[in-house]
Amino acid sequence: MFGWISGFFTYETTKSVVVKSWSVGIINRVAQLLIIIYFVGWVFLHEKAYQVRDTGIESSVMTKVKGFGFLNNHLMDVADYVMPTQGSSMFCVITAMFITPNQTQRTCPEIDKNFNCTTDKHCEKHQSTNVANGKITGKCITEVERCEILGWCPAEDDHQNITSMSEAENFTIFIKNSIRFPLFNVTRGNMGENTNLSCFFDPINNTDCPIFRLADVLKYAGENFTNISQKGGEIGINIAWMCNLDQHVDNCKPKYTFTRLDSAFKKSSATKGYNFRFAKYFKAEDGSEYRTLHKAFAIRFDILVSGNAGKFHLIPTVINVVAACTSVGLATVLCDIILLNFLKGAKQYKAKKFEEVSDSVSRSPSFDHHQGSQMTIKREEKSSDDSGAYSIRHQM
Ligand SMILES: *[C@@H]1O[C@H](CO)[C@@H](O)[C@H](O)[C@H]1NC(C)=O
Repeated sequence: MFGWISGFFTYETTKSVVVKSWSVGIINRVAQLLIIIYFVGWVFLHEKAYQVRDTGIESSVMTKVKGFGFLNNHLMDVADYVMPTQGSSMFCVITAMFITPNQTQRTCPEIDKNFNCTTDKHCEKHQSTNVANGKITGKCITEVERCEILGWCPAEDDHQNITSMSEAENFTIFIKNSIRFPLFNVTRGNMGENTNLSCFFDPINNTDCPIFRLADVLKYAGENFTNISQKGGEIGINIAWMCNLDQHVDNCKPKYTFTRLDSAFKKSSATKGYNFRFAKYFKAEDGSEYRTLHKAFAIRFDILVSGNAGKFHLIPTVINVVAACTSVGLATVLCDIILLNFLKGAKQYKAKKFEEVSDSVSRSPSFDHHQGSQMTIKREEKSSDDSGAYSIRHQM
């Protein structure tokens, strides 16, 4: 118990031991060099630790799709196939559609095979289902062996073949993106003031053009048009702004990348693609309402803007220079481990490095003449420099 207490109340102070050994010396310098290379090459040049970063990018996106196509014998223009119509950063291009015209509110047989029946009993158990085309009344229509529904009739039959709008591959998507880095008050747009807008984006030859051919976007995302146009899907257009504001602001340009966002479900049998329903409502002359139901398969585009900007600033520079200088000292830790454990004569080094001085010894005047230390290696040690550090010569 006493030993533990006296052990706790001791004070450790460092003493410099100069080791004249080539191998440890070389390891020490190499370790220091590696640490310096890491800080200069990675931390400063690559990660630009001398800059302050603004990651709170402000962005606004406007989009416009153009082109004409034929779907179900209709000529489709932008107002027909783009939803929502506002031109926001998320929009859908409808590429295929089931149309169920002239639906009115009444009762009629369900179409889905899951609702087949021969007696009313089979239908009563479905009465609270959500997946029918209308509310199941509990009656069985025996002529067609299906349950009766109340709702918009006739019920939609979406188990037919579907053709897609092949002209959609030549549609163009115009993207207008304006961003600001509030910390530096820098505003940029994804095209110059006098960019010629009769161009198509190309990731190699024409990276400044903000007009994208729809089939190209799918191609860059690794998809092909025929697959995605029949079932629908979700494509992400990423606009990345990585700006180094130490250079001229004109070099602050966006980089576009394309991904299929719903690729996790590409092979899923339960849910594939992307579709939604909408209806257009009409009134007949006798005042009765009817509607046309559309089940639309669409390619949904999400435009995701990200980015950050950096600029030289004194405070991060000083902090990182100090961190770099401190870290050079880490080489000592490595060398100590090697010196005290793996080199020949490690025991003697240990004896030199850790020295116990008790209260009474330190008070003794003779301590000043190196008498108090337990030096037993060689008598050729000498005071090496003004700090009173010991020097041990050891030929390796
Ligand atoms: C798309 O445009 C190209 C070139 O203008 C044309 O050859 C091709 O037939 C068009 N595709 C469709 C489906 O109209």
